[in-house]
Amino acid sequence: MGSVQPEYKNQATATLLELVKSRRSYYGLKAESPVSDDVIESIVRDSVLHVPSSFNTQTSRVVLLLKEEHQKVWDIAIQAMEGLVAAGHVPKEQFETSTKPKLNSFRAAYGTVLFFVDFDSLAPIKEKFALYADKFNPFALESNAMSQFLVWTALESEGFGANLQHYSPLIDEQITKTWDLPASWKLDAQLVFGTPTAEPGEKAFAPIEDRFKVFGK
Ligand SMILES: Cc1cc2nc3c(=O)[nH]c(=O)nc-3n(C[C@H](O)[C@H](O)[C@H](O)COP(=O)(O)O)c2cc1C
Repeated sequence: MGSVQPEYKNQATATLLELVKSRRSYYGLKAESPVSDDVIESIVRDSVLHVPSSFNTQTSRVVLLLKEEHQKVWDIAIQAMEGLVAAGHVPKEQFETSTKPKLNSFRAAYGTVLFFVDFDSLAPIKEKFALYADKFNPFALESNAMSQFLVWTALESEGFGANLQHYSPLIDEQITKTWDLPASWKLDAQLVFGTPTAEPGEKAFAPIEDRFKVFGK
């Protein structure tokens, strides 16, 4: 964006930033994987283990779902939306022409990573640092978002496309039940990934000068 490419001391820095720049939201995805499931598992596991959290509280919980297990997430979402249609909360026409095709496009992908936060596990530290008590929940979400970004970027580096979804609380109960997860795991986001079938859309950038300042250079 108009800036000169600096000379990084470590080539890996340039590579990292290139990956950050090329990460996009891909919505056209198919149920094929460019890599082994072990590679995917390793990316997700490393994100859980190494992404930082406030006071090292390690509040993120993550579930990796592949193939048929991944499809169940989107069957749950479709069923939940059908419930809203039946109850008159969502127009049937809107569901059939927009919502259902969108949910089926997620279902057509290869996998979903479910990102949760265990807010209950923060009880002792909230008591210990009462002054910051109200900060710990947002910190936990921020840490979770860091994992989401890392997994998103790493999966795309391996040839996947991915998009980030938020169907909580609509699907929470069935998700917890289906995979017998602890009740304290609160769902935050769902990262859908698969082999891209379409390029991402155009992306506009607000002027960087309005968003970033540097002093003392
Ligand atoms: C915190 C956050 C929440 C998002 N939630 C959704 C979502 O619920 N559904 C969706 O389709 N995209 C969602 N997105 C994707 C954004 O719309 C997308 O990242 C943004 O438009 C920039 O496009 P890009 O990802 O291609 O760079 C979310 C992104 C972020 C960072």
